[in-house]
Amino acid sequence: MNRLIVVSNRVNPPSGEGDESVGGLAMALAAALREYSGLWFGWSGKTTPEFTGQLNIEKVGGVTAATVDLEETDLDEYYNGYANKTLWPLFHYRNDLAAFDRSYGEGYRRVNCRFADTLAPLIEPDDLIWIHDYHLIPLGRELRKLGVKNRIGFFLHIPWPAHQVFINLPRHRQLVEAMFDYDLVGFQTAEHQQAFEEYVLSEAGGSQPEPGVLEAFGRRVEVGAFPIGIDAEDFARLLRNSRARRMRDLMTACTVFRHLIVGVDRLDYSKGLEERFLGFERFLTENPDMRREVLMLQIAPVSRESVEAYQQIRERLDSLSGRINGAFADVDWAPIRYVNKNYRRDELAGIYGAARVGLVTPLRDGMNLVAKEFVAAQNPEDPGVLVLSRFAGAARQMPDALLVNPNSAEEISDALKRALAMDKAERIRRWSALFETVQREDVTAWRDAFVQALAGQKAQAPALA
Ligand code: UDP
Ligand code: G6P
Repeated sequence: MNRLIVVSNRVNPPSGEGDESVGGLAMALAAALREYSGLWFGWSGKTTPEFTGQLNIEKVGGVTAATVDLEETDLDEYYNGYANKTLWPLFHYRNDLAAFDRSYGEGYRRVNCRFADTLAPLIEPDDLIWIHDYHLIPLGRELRKLGVKNRIGFFLHIPWPAHQVFINLPRHRQLVEAMFDYDLVGFQTAEHQQAFEEYVLSEAGGSQPEPGVLEAFGRRVEVGAFPIGIDAEDFARLLRNSRARRMRDLMTACTVFRHLIVGVDRLDYSKGLEERFLGFERFLTENPDMRREVLMLQIAPVSRESVEAYQQIRERLDSLSGRINGAFADVDWAPIRYVNKNYRRDELAGIYGAARVGLVTPLRDGMNLVAKEFVAAQNPEDPGVLVLSRFAGAARQMPDALLVNPNSAEEISDALKRALAMDKAERIRRWSALFETVQREDVTAWRDAFVQALAGQKAQAPALA
């Protein structure tokens, strides 16, 4: 078996204890690498006044993590700048929040060059290299410039936006050209793949000699949809541990005679939290008899705090949750419990397990692992109901959830009403279908499909809805 080198901005080796940091990418890669004695390369999460290129090597649970510190300007221009003020908002259809600044583009290129220079000496001839997410789109190109001939794959964890949205990016062609230095490019859903193909065919003068293959810029790349999943086996184990059970008991105790509605998201404007609160407010207004029967718990650990748009959404949510609680609360009950703390995954498993409704309503999301974790944590004999945004990649695989338009307070309110009234037989039927998919299309299936396709073995991408 070839050695696998995984590269991502955020590196978070698995401890197996459920205390890894927040974010779907780190969760999935930790799980995906567990069975490979591979190398995980990326940013250390630390900054130094000047870039040294010195590697920090750490071995955790069979995975070697090799990380580098970045310069403070790198953090501003590459991570906060191009990655999180330009690409993230644009790829999540928030052109209004996207900032286009030449220095960001320069920082992005510089960090990708630095990563390539530091990584190249670690690469052995038979290694497979798998690069992840929007921070590192040009890394393959920089490695090729240094003479790296290995098979290199790229996977995008976030949506690839529709053509008309993507062309708002200055120098968009350059970014797409860089994707042709990979052997294989993977997307979360067929829709994202099609949006990329459309750009290549209509904007870059490319062609599609056969399905799943694109030619442009004098090069050829394979493309495919590989929907990411959770580590279902590990999650089942976490669910049984004492922390998970304690948390489940605690949440059950504080919601006696009430239904718990739960949301878990990084505090990000793409997650539709404002719209979700407004949907819940509408539910309370329209269903006065249900008011005291529900409690909405929204866990939203802060994220990317140096970026203004994140500070602003935080302020808006503080005030909105306060307003709703002020309007509806009683001496012994408040409708929303809004928490900005980060919880371990085993604790989350316990919380999901105590909930009657999982409310997962991002405005746009590449996949959304919380939706899958919620399903995996339910009691098969009395499962809760998943209310899921149509605009999450996960919706393609989860048609048995109650699918909603996350912009519509009416749809959120109606779905809550329906979920809370749903009889046990229907809940079990829907949940069984969802659980079957979550288990079958898990992180191992995702990793194996991608790695086999990258290695040139005739593997199929998992079946897509
Ligand atoms: N998560 C966590 N603790 C928290 C909140 C979230 O460990 O307090 C995890 C959550 O369990 C999930 C991941 O962060 O595995 C979020 O992944 P998702 O794909 O839903 O969204 P992303 O943050 O990647 O946009
Ligand atoms: C999403 C992105 C990841 C990112 C994660 C957490 O899942 O796709 O690339 O790591 O959010 O965000 P952060 O900026 O803290 O790494």
